[in-house]
Amino acid sequence: MDTFLLCPPDHFKIDYSINPWMTGDPVDNRLSQDQWLGLVKAIQESGGVVKTISPQSGLPDMVFTANAGIVSGKTFVISSMKHDERKGESTHFRKWFINEGFSVVDIVPGLSFEGCGDSLIHSNTLIGGYGYRSDLLSLEITAGALGLQLISLELVDPRYYHLDTCFCKVSDTHAIYFPDAFKSGEIEKLSGVINLIPISEADARLFMCNSMLVNETLLIPSRHSEVEKVLKNNHGIKTRPVDVGEFLKSGGSIQCLCLKI
Ligand code: ARG
Repeated sequence: MDTFLLCPPDHFKIDYSINPWMTGDPVDNRLSQDQWLGLVKAIQESGGVVKTISPQSGLPDMVFTANAGIVSGKTFVISSMKHDERKGESTHFRKWFINEGFSVVDIVPGLSFEGCGDSLIHSNTLIGGYGYRSDLLSLEITAGALGLQLISLELVDPRYYHLDTCFCKVSDTHAIYFPDAFKSGEIEKLSGVINLIPISEADARLFMCNSMLVNETLLIPSRHSEVEKVLKNNHGIKTRPVDVGEFLKSGGSIQCLCLKI
């Protein structure tokens, strides 16, 4: 069964700016709580299991648990956040994973790695993004620690600073991606690995690449995308819109709010 670690948004706000989406637009706390609870419900109704970690004051981005690391079996490769504002999160995630019986692997000091924000597992391959938040070397270390082969993709658009803002696996065989976010020639590394469906700039802005597969259901952040029809009609993918718009003010959406464990 798909299991996810989430962090309630009790301390979520826009206190600093570390990506172009964080323009200081104030968060409606009540609405962000409701949206987060709606996401929990959507995961559970799709047959997923939700576990939670206690939110900590002073760590407003801890709600984006995808950035905490990446899990394979009972191994957790813990992140090393790029920005000082988020570095304090790791202590809390380390404790949580040790408590749950995981072995925790660290990245070499001095390198940055932002977990499932920049990496995902597809069969025996780690697909990783680098250029903004994660270093190429940290992706190599992660793939090695998890016994996976690495396909690394260089990102070139600051608005799509994490791989999960411009690439998303939507089924066992297909992924959507926003072409302009990748350095030219990079996405071709995935040919023969997964079938690729490009999305428009308008859909990229809606954070459609931050959708998340829960068993057979793809949770998507908008009802107004162009790609939803393609996914449904041409690929038979079941979709469910979940509005987490408050989190977009921080440059995150559905997949950022969840860490698959
Ligand atoms: N404000 C957060 C940051 O910039 C958003 C993180 C989004 N997470 C993600 N997996 N893309 O770090």
